[in-house]
Amino acid sequence: MCGIVGYVGDQECASLLMSGLEHLEYRGYDSAGLAVFDGQETHMLRSVGKLRNLAALLAASPLHGKVGLGHTRWATHGAPSEKNAHPHMAGPITVVHNGIVENHLALRAELQARGHVFQSETDTEIFSHFIREKVEAGCSLELAVRQVLQVVEGSYALVVFSTTEPDRLVAAKNASPLVVGIGQDEMLIASDVPAIIRHTRDVVFLHEGELAVVTKNSLKITDLEGNPVERRPKRIDWTPAQAEKGGFKHFMLKEIFEQPRAMADTLRGRLSLERGDVLFNQVQLTDERIRTFDRIVISACGTAWHAGLLGRYWIEQTTRIPVTVDVASEFRYRNPIISDRTLFIAISQSGETADTHAALREARDRGAETLSICNVVDSSIARDSDHVIYTLAGPEIGVASTKAFVTQLIALRLLALRLGRARQTISADEARTALQNLLQLPALVEQLLGCAPNVEKIARKYLNCRDFLFLGRGVYQPIALEGALKLKEISYIHAEGYAAGEMKHGPIALIDEAMPVLVLTPHGTHYEKTFSNLEEVRARGGRVIAVASEGDEQIAQFTQDVLWVPELDESLMPILCTIPLQLLAYYMADLKGTDVDQPRNLAKSVTVE
Ligand code: AGP
Repeated sequence: MCGIVGYVGDQECASLLMSGLEHLEYRGYDSAGLAVFDGQETHMLRSVGKLRNLAALLAASPLHGKVGLGHTRWATHGAPSEKNAHPHMAGPITVVHNGIVENHLALRAELQARGHVFQSETDTEIFSHFIREKVEAGCSLELAVRQVLQVVEGSYALVVFSTTEPDRLVAAKNASPLVVGIGQDEMLIASDVPAIIRHTRDVVFLHEGELAVVTKNSLKITDLEGNPVERRPKRIDWTPAQAEKGGFKHFMLKEIFEQPRAMADTLRGRLSLERGDVLFNQVQLTDERIRTFDRIVISACGTAWHAGLLGRYWIEQTTRIPVTVDVASEFRYRNPIISDRTLFIAISQSGETADTHAALREARDRGAETLSICNVVDSSIARDSDHVIYTLAGPEIGVASTKAFVTQLIALRLLALRLGRARQTISADEARTALQNLLQLPALVEQLLGCAPNVEKIARKYLNCRDFLFLGRGVYQPIALEGALKLKEISYIHAEGYAAGEMKHGPIALIDEAMPVLVLTPHGTHYEKTFSNLEEVRARGGRVIAVASEGDEQIAQFTQDVLWVPELDESLMPILCTIPLQLLAYYMADLKGTDVDQPRNLAKSVTVE
């Protein structure tokens, strides 16, 4: 997610903006910029890569002025480059933005038709031209921003200043965070508290659909229609380190709780209910080409591989094409059977995993059409793929993947529906129903995160266990593997994920009271058979933790430790079941005192083979 810092007040602000950006570095970025108005004109510096590059530019060409904006960009539209970096300027207007403008192509075309010349590939630049047009037609900056936001669709944290009214910043929020810091004859606006906390602890968080007009000693908040909003400042008592985690103890916990937003962002603008179809603007696969595929190969590592295992179920159901899923480090040595009628899908959060990248190149060299699902724009794997679907999870700092995993699943579910619609193996009505179910997920996950205290209680009970077995059938088998990986990689407790039907072929020999067995058994196709696995465990003195559908009375008779999940279409239940398993792993690791965000021996991106 991008980082925003804005200042208006009595101080020279360039170095203050720079420092604010440095305290937002944890949000991840690939380029950065500053713009400061010196009373005569606005001067701007922008650079690709780390903030030290921008700092070097600033040292060489100092910026002077007491109103300005800073930005770190996490690319979503347009590769990381100087011209795509923010701020963006048009005439007297300077803007920075965090979010996604869904209708930016249409607005860009309208503005270009009226003579505006765009410098970048970003969606953000429509704000600078559109607001300029209104201000030069006589609107105040506040009114211009308000009018532009009436036609913009999508998510934004937007901060603007104009040389026509240099005593103020205008900011607006919808789905992306913004907070105002209230100082002595100065005000700051930022994406997050860490950029502000060293100047003031008195802050006001903007809420959805609110607009703020800020001068050095005034703050006016309204809704988009201009109706005043009263909001008392909050006193932030976090330490700066706590502030970077948004008050959460670890980045991993923060990222688990970011999942509803990450899922909503990954869905946003990618589906059409009226057409009963999916819209991918970076997948140029025609329906005709999709109909030529006779097999699909998915390859990835670790958690991404688990996403691929679940993706196989969905894609085979919607397309009736055979799908194989390979661990990347194995795929490339199998002399794989690939042709120009193979669709090869690489899944990678970082887009830099060496094994996955090598597997992609192997498939490409053998003639496959390649598509990658990545969380980092313009990463190596994304660049080497014919097509890309970006998960918009924002930077994932914790080594253990959480929000990236659930957004990979969202992307795979959308892809399965797109492929099925292209091959006409699913109808528009079937796809529409599936999309409506998908749209329910962010709110259901938000609600499900309320289970955290119950999960922490269960974690305490099993803290001293040395081994865990995770069991699941069908669509739950990949989640059993994922739950086991989460637990082992951050708590260092040995855990194995298994197909529940396989327990009797070996693992059942391990069952005793010392090894808890976590069984994924929501209502549905496999309920009865999985329930009998649970009974087999209990009959041998094993202890069971069940992941079950809310209200399942039968389960409650068999085990006192149940992780309840709400009911949804069975195809999406595995995503819901993932949440309590992430929390279980987190609390066990935190209670054990391991380094949750940076577990021993692990790297966030394994760029070696
Ligand atoms: C997941 O929690 C692990 N950190 C690891 O298995 C990870 O999923 C794997 O290394 C793949 O990384 P990628 O998604 O960046 O390719």
